Amino acid sequence: MLLQNELEQRVEARTRELEKVNEFLTQARKMEAIGHLAGSIAHDFNNYLNIILGYSALLVKKLEPDSPLIEWALNVEKAAATAAELTSQLLAFSRKKKFPVRPVNLNTLIQELIPLLSSAVKHSIAISHVADAQLPVFDGGVDQIKSALLNLGLNARDAMKNGGALTFTTKTVDVNKEYRRKHGLTCATGTYASVSVADTGTGIEPEVFKHLFEPFFTTKDEGKGTGMGLAAVYGIAQSHHGAVFAETELGSGTTFTMLFPVKLLETPA
Ligand SMILES: Nc1ncnc2c1ncn2[C@@H]1O[C@H](COP(=O)(O)OP(=O)(O)O)[C@@H](O)[C@H]1O
Ligand SMILES: [Mg+2]
Repeated sequence: MLLQNELEQRVEARTRELEKVNEFLTQARKMEAIGHLAGSIAHDFNNYLNIILGYSALLVKKLEPDSPLIEWALNVEKAAATAAELTSQLLAFSRKKKFPVRPVNLNTLIQELIPLLSSAVKHSIAISHVADAQLPVFDGGVDQIKSALLNLGLNARDAMKNGGALTFTTKTVDVNKEYRRKHGLTCATGTYASVSVADTGTGIEPEVFKHLFEPFFTTKDEGKGTGMGLAAVYGIAQSHHGAVFAETELGSGTTFTMLFPVKLLETPA
């Protein structure tokens, strides 16, 4: 009886585990499909937007300096620039954007990012950096990763309207099967350079948590949020064969962790 009970329990646990892995894989495939669609639209849009940007800049230049039309042309240019930024995030999400690959030192990158971020957040938010001095360097897109961390930092700011702490932590992480399962990842096992961005803000409701990385998913007011920040972060992690995941507690805060492979041991799950 005892033996049978134990066996049943083990089968049940294993089934639950498999269900979870399946869920992660379905989610990953869904993101892949959206990315494909978004990428092809973004690619065409990018071309048209460059034409609009080019001609509106030309107009501004050619109009008489006191012409009232200058303001209209500037408005066209500004709107096209905003749309181009959105498109660029869509391209990052769909991994259609090529980027130069260089050795990346996450600690240096964070040091460069902090002054930039400081100018965008209130004094009531304390920014700090807990650095793993032994953190390995890996090959990646410096600008891509910087923009991903900036996005995470700005989201953290938005979640801490009454101030708080924003902490960047770097670590060398051994991603084994256990770690992968715990965080719902499908990346290969091996050694990764990790950077987490932690805030002491609102935390995230389960309903929102499910859709975090989907393009155009936002809970912010129109004009405030585009819903493309985390989608771009997701794409940037993917294009580095890395991963990104979030941990949150309502009322306490949220931590986003990005992982970048340094040395891989075996194929993805
Ligand atoms: N650190 C965070 N704390 C709480 N909620 C967050 C955090 N980061 C992201 N979110 C939620 O995820 C949503 C999507 O984020 P994002 O893709 O960056 O788009 P946006 O910032 O334009 O809304 C946000 O609208 C917000 O609801
Ligand atoms: Mg954002």
